[in-house]
Amino acid sequence: MNDELLELAVGLARTAGAATVAMRPDAIGTTTTKSSDTDPVTEADRHAEQMITEGILGVRPDDAIVGEEGAGIDGTSGVSWYVDPIDGTANYVYGIPIYAVSIAAEVDGSIVAGVVYNPESDELFTAAKDQGAYRNGTAISVTTDIALNRALVGTGFGYKPEDRAIDGAVIAHLLPQIRDLRRLGSAALDLCAVAMGRFDAYFETGLHVWDYAAGWLIVEEAGGRCLGRDGAEPSLQMMIAAHSPLAKDLGDALKLAQETASVGGRVGTD
Ligand code: IPD
Ligand code: CA
Repeated sequence: MNDELLELAVGLARTAGAATVAMRPDAIGTTTTKSSDTDPVTEADRHAEQMITEGILGVRPDDAIVGEEGAGIDGTSGVSWYVDPIDGTANYVYGIPIYAVSIAAEVDGSIVAGVVYNPESDELFTAAKDQGAYRNGTAISVTTDIALNRALVGTGFGYKPEDRAIDGAVIAHLLPQIRDLRRLGSAALDLCAVAMGRFDAYFETGLHVWDYAAGWLIVEEAGGRCLGRDGAEPSLQMMIAAHSPLAKDLGDALKLAQETASVGGRVGTD
């Protein structure tokens, strides 16, 4: 069953990704915004989500679907899908070729299949539960034995100015403790970067489940660990990804950075 869900997700990610590339607007001015003035959304986001939703329901009409652009379909089959039609919409509208379609399937509360597809680079990251993680069909794995002080760490920021002020304060404390920081602009691709060793670690607060569901499985199937706040599961409050000891050390460092920055960690507002 997990293989079938993965196969369906791969087909839809490729189709939606190709449509997205074809629809890319010529200028940032043609887009509108949603959660804040800096949060872009395009016709392609909505169109791709609709394509994916219809593609799932055409084959599996009893599944539930939650999508970034508003899909909220209840199901009865026990299978739920999390869809981000374009993760990295700001990159998309600026013509930066770092964005992805992200699709994950959950069965009885556990993610069992995940696909992240960058249609610009034609990189397809896949994972099915207990079957490893792959980039274009080749097995991938996280880096190991990298300590925090040698770690290349990815991160990202949400769209609310007040949250970004906190992110900046936390980074000011963390940056002297690590090799360096990267901000690609797509949480799904950040997680895949960890899964294949392009990053040693990644963290972000304020992510939604459609941003990280597929990448979470891909990281864990690549031998890594994803943690939330205080060692809990990833959530809106925190996503940390790395090999297990580094994930824990980064979590401890972030907690200290949050306390030192006197913010106590964000609890997430939406
Ligand atoms: C965003 C990207 C970005 C991350 C933001 C996300 P979107 O997703 O993943 O890298 O920092 O938190 O909201 O809005 O482009 O789908
Ligand atoms: Ca997203």
